[in-house]
Amino acid sequence: MKTNEEIAARLGTSVVALASLCLVLAAIIVLMLNRRYTTDLEIAVNDMQTPSASPPVNKSAGPSISYTPGPNGIDGQKLFRQNCASCHDIGSKKLVGPGLAGVTGRVPSEKWLHEWIRNNQKLINEGEPYAVKIKKENGAAMTIFEFLSDEDIQAIIDYISLSY
Ligand code: HEC
Repeated sequence: MKTNEEIAARLGTSVVALASLCLVLAAIIVLMLNRRYTTDLEIAVNDMQTPSASPPVNKSAGPSISYTPGPNGIDGQKLFRQNCASCHDIGSKKLVGPGLAGVTGRVPSEKWLHEWIRNNQKLINEGEPYAVKIKKENGAAMTIFEFLSDEDIQAIIDYISLSY
């Protein structure tokens, strides 16, 4: 016959043993979860740091032009972006003014193009037929660019001509 104390002592030991087992199990689970989490995080971070083999190409950005300034170092692309891009697309899309794709082929001459870009109002006022015609067709007024040098204008034309 076991005494009550004996039974209680046995029960006590079992409860302690069970509790320790639970603790160990819990610790193992926590460690495993933690490890998994870290691994996923590491993979994500690695993905962000590894550069992809080829950089993504933006196909919706219109005609892609690889432009380098000529020997005199005047950057026609930069000048175009600063002075013309607000009104002109280098492709065929109409903004405020017509898209400039193919423009060197439709204007009367290279000389006309220089004069137009420098001061379009002067040509219109002189009644130059092509100037009057596009003015009628579009209606909006193009800015006057007296401050651009011949070289600046040539660099812009060279840049535009690359798009077609
Ligand atoms: C404020 C808007 C505006 C800016 C800025 C502007 N243009 Fe224009 N451009 C026009 C408009 C509008 C026309 C059409 C003619 C008209 O309505 O006067 C035109 C016409 C032209 C044409 C003739 C197009 C054709 O189809 O024959 C050329 C070339 C041109 N611009 C070049 C330029 C260049 C180069 C620059 C920058 C140095 C420039 N434009 C800046 C508005 C602008």
